[in-house]
Amino acid sequence: HHLRQAGKLFQDRTAAGQVQTKGIADYVTAVDYAVQQYIQEHLEVSYPHIQFLSEEKANQEIDQSGLVWVLDPVDGTTNLIHDYHTSCISLALMGGGEVVLGMIYNPYSKELFQAKKGGGSYLNGERITVSGATKMEESLIAIGTSPYHKEMADENFELFKRLFLDCQDIRRSGSAALDLAHVACGRLEGYFEIGLKIWDFAAGMLLVREAGGSVLDYSGAQADTSMVNNIVAGNSEICRLLASKYL
Ligand code: IPD
Ligand code: CA
Ligand code: CA
Ligand code: CA
Repeated sequence: HHLRQAGKLFQDRTAAGQVQTKGIADYVTAVDYAVQQYIQEHLEVSYPHIQFLSEEKANQEIDQSGLVWVLDPVDGTTNLIHDYHTSCISLALMGGGEVVLGMIYNPYSKELFQAKKGGGSYLNGERITVSGATKMEESLIAIGTSPYHKEMADENFELFKRLFLDCQDIRRSGSAALDLAHVACGRLEGYFEIGLKIWDFAAGMLLVREAGGSVLDYSGAQADTSMVNNIVAGNSEICRLLASKYL
């Protein structure tokens, strides 16, 4: 699998130290570029007719009505810079605005999460499902701090406090894609974040849905594949509670 090979690039601490700043608290490293290049080259050989959209390249030419690979070469770049061991590669295949394949690879735990539309979700080949918890007080919820939108901090942290008082505890991983994967396999009951980009959530969205969970936007509608979206995910009951009572 190309993702397992590309994941080895995360170990290069020299490349992880070659950091450029894109915006407030927003970075890209030589590892991000190396992973992107490795995967792009391999996909272009095997699937020359499929377009390639990825976070660290210009994507103007992409036609969303056709088939397109959607890559986040490193989801959790700040974690990578700090050697925090909580980052992953997220790759989705979309067609006509629908996600048809989703893959998230965590090179630290060597966990490969995979989903196919209509075919269920898998972790290293074993079927996974969302958790069965139905009450907030038995739920572990990952919050997304939207680090590139610090103007949202007041609103976000007020909400985090309200939720923290009602749920078992909250977590902040620093990787949106891993949060979604962890909802899919039942380690987390829910996760939500404002202003995610398509490469952050496309693969994870399919993983959660194929594992029996829900992915909504903050209005409570089914989340679509807009380039930017506010995402709430969870097992269906906790996702519904989050969207109706907290967001
Ligand atoms: C970010 C991470 C982070 C989330 C941000 C994302 P990046 O992706 O997923 O957890 O809070 O919203 O943009 O920049 O590390 O690929
Ligand atoms: Ca980024
Ligand atoms: Ca990301
Ligand atoms: Ca990224």
